[in-house]
Amino acid sequence: MYPWLDRTGKVSYLKLATFIGVLLPGLWAAFVWSMGQAPQPSGLGTSAMPVTNALHVIGDWSVRFLLITLAVTPLRRLAMWPRVITLRRMLGVTAFAYVAIHLVLYIVQQNYRLLFVASEIALRIYLTIGFVAFVGLLALAITSTDSAMRRLGGKKWQRLHYLAYPLTMLGLAHFFMQSKINVTEPVIMSGCFLWLMLYRLAHRWNNEKPLLAWQLASLAIGAAVLTQLGEAAWYQFATGIGAERIFNAVFDFHHVRPAWWVLGAASAFIPLPWIARRFWAAGRVAARAAVAA
Ligand code: HEM
Repeated sequence: MYPWLDRTGKVSYLKLATFIGVLLPGLWAAFVWSMGQAPQPSGLGTSAMPVTNALHVIGDWSVRFLLITLAVTPLRRLAMWPRVITLRRMLGVTAFAYVAIHLVLYIVQQNYRLLFVASEIALRIYLTIGFVAFVGLLALAITSTDSAMRRLGGKKWQRLHYLAYPLTMLGLAHFFMQSKINVTEPVIMSGCFLWLMLYRLAHRWNNEKPLLAWQLASLAIGAAVLTQLGEAAWYQFATGIGAERIFNAVFDFHHVRPAWWVLGAASAFIPLPWIARRFWAAGRVAARAAVAA
């Protein structure tokens, strides 16, 4: 079945737009590569090392798509948008596809020397961690079909797919460990992941009831503070730069610290319930009442 069709076989414009969207980073990397250059990570122009840079760009998007996949559930609940769940499988499989391309690019970078690649994966801990994440994501991708879901049964399937959280954590650890001096992007991604975990926990503690605006604001601030603490701790342990210096730099807006990006991303979820009630959920409730009358 084509990814842009819904269960009745009709074209779903939401799925079609998402499908085009998930292809774009890969197509862009392939296009610039075919021109003899490749985009540098984090949009730093282009460089003459196409394979290495494509490896980095695709690696970045692997993590981003994993986080986007995990954000589907909060988005569904807070925006009262049940249809968005139909995108989760496509997004998760996309994340895996990007990781697989990332691995293939590593093999290309190493001139197809498969035994050397295997020994590097076995010997370098950051590659071993990446490989474990790859194998786990492969298991999730294989079991993401309807028939696998039926075979495993709802509960077992769900328990297996909760592995997406620890596997994302492994991907983030790999991201951190291969970073040299600048850990801005892995810190931002880890902060967003932290918010997703905090949201899950808070939703459970709240007896699965919708979280209120003040609760969402507290989660956003909590995730941002923990991100700042984490970044300071990383610099302290990995580089010896005093944690205090990084912590104090939070209000130096020449270089916006990762904690602010995390605060911004997490805050985007706060008005969603209000917007949903104001613009679409009320209409839906009224329509349901009209049908019932
Ligand atoms: C078979 C498993 C994997 C291998 C062999 C592998 C290999 C690599 C290599 C060689 C680098 C570049 C390191 C350097 O230049 O010093 C890298 C970077 C990276 N990898 Fe992987 N990786 C694997 C799995 C993963 C997974 C599972 C993820 C994410 C879910 C991931 C995300 C990243 C990211 C984000 C970067 C950094 C990109 C940047 O510089 O911005 N990798 N990986």
